[in-house]
Amino acid sequence: MNEMRDHIEFEYGGENIALPLTTGTEDETAIEIGTLRNTTGLVTLDIGYKNTASTTSAITFIDGDKGILRYRGYSIETLAEKARFLEVAYLLIFGELPTADQLLKFEQLYRQYTLLDEGLKKLLDAFPSAAHPMDMLSALTAAWAAFDPQPLDVADAEQLCRSAAKILAGFPILTSWIYRKKCGLPLNYADAELHYAANVMQLMFRVPTARYERDPVLTAALDKLLILHADHEQNCSTTAVRVVGSSRAGLLASISAGVSALLGPLHGGANQFVVEMLQAIKADGGDIEKYLDKAKDKADPFRLMGFGHRVYKNFDPRAKIIKGYADDVLEKLGVDDPILDIAKKLESAALADDYFVSRKIFPNVDFYSGIIYRALGIPVEMFTVMFALGRLPGWIAQWLEMRKDEQPVSRPRQVYTGHTQRDFVPLDQR
Ligand code: CMC
Repeated sequence: MNEMRDHIEFEYGGENIALPLTTGTEDETAIEIGTLRNTTGLVTLDIGYKNTASTTSAITFIDGDKGILRYRGYSIETLAEKARFLEVAYLLIFGELPTADQLLKFEQLYRQYTLLDEGLKKLLDAFPSAAHPMDMLSALTAAWAAFDPQPLDVADAEQLCRSAAKILAGFPILTSWIYRKKCGLPLNYADAELHYAANVMQLMFRVPTARYERDPVLTAALDKLLILHADHEQNCSTTAVRVVGSSRAGLLASISAGVSALLGPLHGGANQFVVEMLQAIKADGGDIEKYLDKAKDKADPFRLMGFGHRVYKNFDPRAKIIKGYADDVLEKLGVDDPILDIAKKLESAALADDYFVSRKIFPNVDFYSGIIYRALGIPVEMFTVMFALGRLPGWIAQWLEMRKDEQPVSRPRQVYTGHTQRDFVPLDQR
């Protein structure tokens, strides 16, 4: 294979084939294979998209080897320290950090949409008490689309702004209703005057029989967690959002697909499983080696939850930030969580074990986030819902980019491995 600056050439079937190269702003280079089938009859096969860029994108950059994550060019460390969630949402969706005036206008718009259609409560009532909050969220997000069926004109900046504000305002209400329905609590209304994270907290925890005291430590911790989850380029749920949206399905319908993709244990669902795993280790006498051995045993389906990542092969910068917060938040709240000790011991033991080191398996974002959610009083079953709440700006931004770039419908090829043509055998002869 000959490598040149803007294309590669190779020989196939006696023909010289040239394929163009595309280079991004961070010097990643991709081979464009769109013409390959027409010129050679070949398709590419990459199960699980391990080496396939599904799109170009100007939203989020990850360097998995160096542990870098940036939204629109700004490092995650800086944004988590200096920005608020709605500012970050604006940055992701519209491409630039808002000016004070732009943020004010966006917040005003967001406040206009802090009431949800009451009809959604009837659907909420239909769920059995054992329903998982993520199953409820996925169904309710799809249902919400039916309550708001107007198609979105992506060329209309005003409409875009309204839709983004409406979804960002409605989602915390929907998620709090899910939580409160499961607890048998009356459903709350938003407090439009509060900042995003403070409103999320009061929606979930304010009860009519007691004065609600806002805790700035809890609110700040939640705000940071939301920022850390806000986007992560072409992960499973974002890819689901883009694929569904590529058929020109609406934004909420696409987001509901994202919620469904997020709930699986190999993606966002891992945060619930991490805490359940840490609790199980504790209940089992804290025998960390036993669980490391289980994770290494190929005959055992058990995996160390909260460890490993498709892209990060050094460290997950979000995990590093969250680990720091976990100590800080627990100390400020005066919480002594034995699960945190187990987590730290498990991390040290795994990072000293050749199985994990040689495969570059490190703690990911989900490893320590649950410990903070627990300290905030959020039940384990709701952890992935909190992840979804944070990921909303990313899903909106990625959907918009896909539509504005007029990307064609997502429709991969396959390599068929089933029977070749065979004769039908009538039922009485089989
Ligand atoms: N525990 C034990 N072994 C692991 C783990 C783990 N958590 N993660 C990867 N491995 C091993 C895997 O068995 C394989 O070994 P071998 O090469 O001997 O067959 C090797 O490491 C490569 O694993 P892979 O499954 O091919 O890697 P992947 O890039 O397809 O999977 C992952 C990435 C996140 C799905 C995987 O690491 C995993 O299952 N982790 C646990 C679930 C988890 O924490 N998910 C949250 C991901 S981060 C947040 C998000 O995206 O939602």
